[in-house]
Amino acid sequence: MTYLRYTPDIEQPVADEQATIDGIIKGMTQQSETVEAREHHAVRASHAKSSACVTGELTIASNLPPELAQGLFATPGTHPVAVRFAQGPGETLGDRVSTHRGMAIKIFDVPGEKLPGHGADTQDFVLATGTTFPSGTAAGFLRDGTVIGKSTGLPEGVKSAVSSTMRNLNKALHAFGTESAFADFFGHPYSHPLADSYFSQAPIRFGDYVAKLGAVPASDAQRALSEWRLDPHVDEDGFRHAAVDFFREHDVVFELKAQLWADAERQPIEDASVDWPVSVSPYRTVATLRLLRQDAYGPERVRYFDDMMTFRPAHSLKAHRPLGSVMRARLQVYQALSAFRHRQNRIAEENAAGIEQIPA
Ligand code: HEM
Repeated sequence: MTYLRYTPDIEQPVADEQATIDGIIKGMTQQSETVEAREHHAVRASHAKSSACVTGELTIASNLPPELAQGLFATPGTHPVAVRFAQGPGETLGDRVSTHRGMAIKIFDVPGEKLPGHGADTQDFVLATGTTFPSGTAAGFLRDGTVIGKSTGLPEGVKSAVSSTMRNLNKALHAFGTESAFADFFGHPYSHPLADSYFSQAPIRFGDYVAKLGAVPASDAQRALSEWRLDPHVDEDGFRHAAVDFFREHDVVFELKAQLWADAERQPIEDASVDWPVSVSPYRTVATLRLLRQDAYGPERVRYFDDMMTFRPAHSLKAHRPLGSVMRARLQVYQALSAFRHRQNRIAEENAAGIEQIPA
């Protein structure tokens, strides 16, 4: 198998990209203002409702083959990590509205040259369920995001109805052997957050190469949850309660995997809606994430994760620069929207440069 190498010219921004990014910032800020007025607190413009705020360790495998021993993964060893699991929308909804969800990972004690503006020895990987980002590009997100933004004002009952329609649509599409990542936004199955797999959806530089990342549940106890489904009529915070209950009894393990870029035609850099076929290049394990049994929702910890800390693609080694249209937008949008919520809440943004800053 030959993998394609990273060079700066594999990214091909369109001419008016900055105007699109400015439009996304404006739209998401307006959306956040609407939510803030309702919730009396400024929350994340995306992935607002956390379900677990935990710490643990990432162990980089030794003896990785040269094409995988790249960037952070070039040096075997163990790093402390902080991980935030959250539901997708940028508002605090009841779990009847079942959405895609996210897993934000901050890796500490990462030496090496960072992207401009990132001053700490940390590397963030901000992942979500589904292997693709349905809007594909920043322009696509601005178009679709407007629709999502409009839904912010709708009553929860309407979102819940959309959610069940989307779930049925997903089932129908599955029956035809395809699936709609878009339908996942409001139609994710009522599955257990610790039994889901999470993906970067868009590519990053992987040292000399390029890759998409995935985090896949790797303990028997998590695999045993694969058929678990929430009854949302019983508990509107059921995903959080399920995650916290599980963390009380079990260690949680994810394998972190890299899918190397091997075919410029079938694995485009600029369009994140295209699933990179695993027949062209599979996801291969590069590290193991261990989150030992713990209190996953201690009040001090949650306040720190939800209101002070930020995870973002721009917190990165140069060797793992996020790539493509969606990623270039994320490099600017997270910073702007995080600044907005911290300003509104009058809470200083924490750099979280070391694991010791995280409340026990
Ligand atoms: C154009 C595309 C995207 C835009 C504009 C966008 C925007 C945002 C914004 C504004 C936040 C809140 C940041 C903060 O206040 O700290 C956020 C959080 C988040 N996003 Fe995105 N996003 C995009 C694509 C993605 C993709 C592709 C993924 C995953 C594959 C993703 C996963 C997440 C997650 C997990 C969080 C929560 C991070 C945390 O826990 O702090 N987003 N996004």
